[in-house]
Amino acid sequence: MRKKIIAGNWKMNMVKAEAITLTQGIANFALSTDLPEALTIVVSPVYPYLDLVNNHIPSVNDCHLYLSAQDCSAHEKGAHTGEVSPIMLKDIGCHYVILGHSERRAQHQESADLLAQKVGLALDSGLQIIFCCGEQLDERKAGNQNEIVIDQIKGSLGELSTDDWANIVIAYEPVWAIGTGETASPEQANDMHKAIRSFVADHLDQRAADQLSILYGGSVKPANAADLFACSDIDGALIGGASLKTDSFTAITQAMIEQIANV
Ligand code: PGA
Repeated sequence: MRKKIIAGNWKMNMVKAEAITLTQGIANFALSTDLPEALTIVVSPVYPYLDLVNNHIPSVNDCHLYLSAQDCSAHEKGAHTGEVSPIMLKDIGCHYVILGHSERRAQHQESADLLAQKVGLALDSGLQIIFCCGEQLDERKAGNQNEIVIDQIKGSLGELSTDDWANIVIAYEPVWAIGTGETASPEQANDMHKAIRSFVADHLDQRAADQLSILYGGSVKPANAADLFACSDIDGALIGGASLKTDSFTAITQAMIEQIANV
């Protein structure tokens, strides 16, 4: 079975005490639940709390809980004020880094080339990448969504080897569904996930495609998680708003646990 991932993207939310409470809540859930082997749970706080959150992640093997950053620099070190190197993220215990989130593409003008550099350096630093892609509403209305998303993937991941792809997770996040309460239908999401998987099969090989975890993101909540996870090509979720509360995040995680048990 492909790795199933439930990832919380906390964005620029939570102060210290809230970050600790949420991490403890998720850790308690993880430790008190019989988690399936295939499940990975990820939390992504802001840079200043990465170390703090990491200290509240139990260091037992069966906890399944991993730390992610929300971005990283394209540079190893040096004169880059305000940036954080993926080497530093790895050094403090991150396993993952989210790259190419639509908010960073829009608010920080992140280009495909810049993202390719970030991906390359993050992989060299030993991080796994949660690479976000997704179309705007007008692009979907025009029926161009597959082309847009595949171009985003080609533009930043097109030069990677099969070995590199073992450390890539794709998060398909239609921009019109992020933070809006509007979710892509399970069918819309699954169709896109199939298109991404078939691109990887054609571009690399079938094995890399079969092993690739593809997450859906955009207004995932306890009420819609089970229907999304029941789809053949949806391997988890990247969750914003609903990841900020222990109850909703663990309810979504529980939906994935039940889905895995049903297969
Ligand atoms: P949302 O955010 O769940 O609040 O829609 C998802 C994301 O931006 O990763």
